[in-house]
Amino acid sequence: MPKRPSPSDEAPPTRAKTLELPLVALRETVIFPEMIVPLQVGREKSVNALNAAVAEGGPIALVTQRQAEQEDIGETSELYEVGTLAKIAQVVQLQDGTVRAIVQGQSRLRLHRFSSTEPYLRGVVEEVSDDTPAGLEVQALMRTVQAQIEQYVANGAPVPPEAAVAARNITEPGLLADMVAYSPDMTTEQRQELLETIDVIERLKLVSNFLARQIEILELKGRIQSEVKSEMDKTQREYILREQLKAIQRELGEDDPQQAEINELRDKVEQAGMPEEIKTRAIKEIDRMSRIPSASPEVGVIRTYVDWLVGLPWDVKTEDLLDIKEAAKILDEDHYGLEKIKERILEYLAVRTLADEIRSPILAFVGPPGVGKTSLGKSIARAMGRKFVRMSLGGIHDEAEIRGHRRTYIGALPGRIIQSIKTAGSNNPVFMLDEVDKIGMDFRGDPSSALLEVLDPEQNFSFQDNYLEVPFDLSKVLFVATANLLDPIPAPLRDRMEIIHLPGYTEQEKIEIGKRFLIPKQMKNHGLSAKTIEITDEAMTELVRSYTKEAGVRNLEREIANVMRKVARTVAEGRKRKTVVDVKRLVEYLGPQRYEYGELEAEDQTGSATGLVVTEVGGDVVAIEVTKMEGKEDFILTGQLGEVMRESARAGLSWTRAHASELGIPRSTFENNTLHIHVPAGGIPKDGPSAGITMATAIVSALAGIPVRKDVAMTGEITLRGRVLPIGGLKSKILAAHLAGAKMVILPRKNEKDLRDIPDEIRKSIKLVLVDSMDQVLEAALRRKPKALVAEPAKIVTGDKPLDPEPEKEDRVRRTTFPPAEQPPVVVQRNVAPRASERVVARD
Ligand SMILES: Nc1ncnc2c1ncn2[C@@H]1O[C@H](COP(=O)(O)OP(=O)(O)OP(=O)(O)O)[C@@H](O)[C@H]1O
Ligand SMILES: [Mg+2]
Repeated sequence: MPKRPSPSDEAPPTRAKTLELPLVALRETVIFPEMIVPLQVGREKSVNALNAAVAEGGPIALVTQRQAEQEDIGETSELYEVGTLAKIAQVVQLQDGTVRAIVQGQSRLRLHRFSSTEPYLRGVVEEVSDDTPAGLEVQALMRTVQAQIEQYVANGAPVPPEAAVAARNITEPGLLADMVAYSPDMTTEQRQELLETIDVIERLKLVSNFLARQIEILELKGRIQSEVKSEMDKTQREYILREQLKAIQRELGEDDPQQAEINELRDKVEQAGMPEEIKTRAIKEIDRMSRIPSASPEVGVIRTYVDWLVGLPWDVKTEDLLDIKEAAKILDEDHYGLEKIKERILEYLAVRTLADEIRSPILAFVGPPGVGKTSLGKSIARAMGRKFVRMSLGGIHDEAEIRGHRRTYIGALPGRIIQSIKTAGSNNPVFMLDEVDKIGMDFRGDPSSALLEVLDPEQNFSFQDNYLEVPFDLSKVLFVATANLLDPIPAPLRDRMEIIHLPGYTEQEKIEIGKRFLIPKQMKNHGLSAKTIEITDEAMTELVRSYTKEAGVRNLEREIANVMRKVARTVAEGRKRKTVVDVKRLVEYLGPQRYEYGELEAEDQTGSATGLVVTEVGGDVVAIEVTKMEGKEDFILTGQLGEVMRESARAGLSWTRAHASELGIPRSTFENNTLHIHVPAGGIPKDGPSAGITMATAIVSALAGIPVRKDVAMTGEITLRGRVLPIGGLKSKILAAHLAGAKMVILPRKNEKDLRDIPDEIRKSIKLVLVDSMDQVLEAALRRKPKALVAEPAKIVTGDKPLDPEPEKEDRVRRTTFPPAEQPPVVVQRNVAPRASERVVARD
């Protein structure tokens, strides 16, 4: 509220003039001298006053009401004391009875009293003109106010920019101060106060204060705005744009695909049953995704990542079937024979069901291709009611394949372990690590070390995949490994495994497997039934003998499938009658027999003996040849023989030489001849000691000129003194000898304990000669006995007699120093060309 200056304070007005004239009371408006304003007048008294003034041709008094809402003014106290004397420039009568006038302020006035109040107000007023003070203070004040006006305008005051120029040109200090009243920032009260401030210097100070305050407000406002704006620039701008985009899409009836996706991902995360920390992680990623524009490639990266997180079976677990009898039934349903192995598996399952927490070793099936390693794994899963996944380690060189690539790589994915777990869809599958012996190692890191972590129960409850970045619990997974050979498996891995050997099947077993499993399976696969096809027993035997040569049954299955295909075709072509596949039909369907039954020499040979070896694809027979030539060289060894094999050849030769007289070999033979020993399949490296007795036999035969029986195969290491030491892989070797048609197998007596693994039917058809010394070998193998050879009788095992309950404990040849129980490998090729995929590395 402006203060009303009391009469006693007033400076005596210079050029004071008292007038009596019509008066208009103003509402919410204060008019200043020199101000030209349109005036809308509606009240009857005011209209009358205007008209009277126009009629008188004189000025009019304009005084502001104290209460804007008051309709009728009757007392001077209801008006402010100071008003404005104004000239009427124009009056327009409007149709609604109101009047629009344009008035121009001339000077201030002071209202003394009303001379009349009807029909309009007339007042006795005193005109108050500005004095024009001079001096430095006024000058300084004027400049200050002018500068302030400029700044006020510059800071964005709500006045036209010309105001600053106008202010500069005003020379009268009173007018300059009055000019500020144009500012809309000024309230009616402030304007009235300004009007009432008659003293020019005071008036300048008043507006200067007012301006300073306004400038400050504007600056503050500017600062706040710019802060808000910069904040807006970063996030709000995008937000606003996106909101607008959404609005547009809504208008167009399209949903925001990214938002929909984000919502969907959030739902998925909620339902995935993840551990809390992983859920938090996933939500964080989704939040990040919602903040980046949908066109950014990062969105796809995050989406894939979150999809992986939600896709994993964090809490999906299958219930184990704990019934061991049922499990036994399932194992029998899927596999023929393999009794010992099935028993072992059942024991293993029994232990697991009794003590879930127990840290059982990883089962590893080792054996040649097609013996059922992989399918046994599947069977275990079926017996336990678990999911089955298989991961081949063949040719994996890179650790990242197992453990995944970091997300910073383009196109990064989790490693194969996590991928397989996702495929399994449960966190406790039977997980088969196929071909652990084929795992590689090079500059890209050692994948087997990653595998170690997977298999180690101390670590695998929080397996770290590089891509996933969060741990996954693998401790409930049942790992099973397979391998063709034991040796190439890295030792630390082998340590964690319980090895179960599957050496291969006998002919009879293969026939049974064929009849009971492979034929029914392939029949089903080819849409045939017992009504449309029958394979005779003879044909089945022929299939095994003459169309396949393998330790397992994979090729057999393939050949059976071939036969089925041919028959299926005739059925498709309309044949109604049953096709009986006998040997004749077999030849028709599959072409002539591929393998001679038996690979042994057709005749007794001098200088050649048949050895037994184990290759990656099972046991095999190999003929070792020796010839003597005239000449005085040392002897020649060919066929890519390794150091151990060369040494055992030398040992054989030395033994022969030392026993030349008993063997009936003239001394001169050694002096005048060169021996050449060759182990066929010269292109393939071979090594190991188990061909020792075979080489010695071939040497004796060549030098003494005595033929070796054609149906004998042998295996055993030889010492310099003619002792025969045990070898490994006996079952595979005897299966191979049987397959090749051998009637007799000579083997080390120390291997007698291994005979329990040999099926009875084979023992029935093969005579097993258990020997301790080279003499016994020669006695059994050679067509006739050298003159002076004395051999203790060898132990002979035949199928009609049961095996000794406990093999002999006493070691007649003490092996205290070497070689260890497991023999170093012999590398020999099979007699048939290997499949391209097979690596021919063998051991015994
Ligand atoms: N004892 C058996 N009874 C029934 N079927 C068998 C038996 N052994 C193997 N098979 C069948 O032989 C085929 C080949 O077996 P599988 O694939 O398990 O061989 P594998 O030992 O894993 O060979 P690889 O080392 O080449 O992987 C499968 O169809 C399997 O069902
Ligand atoms: Mg397999």
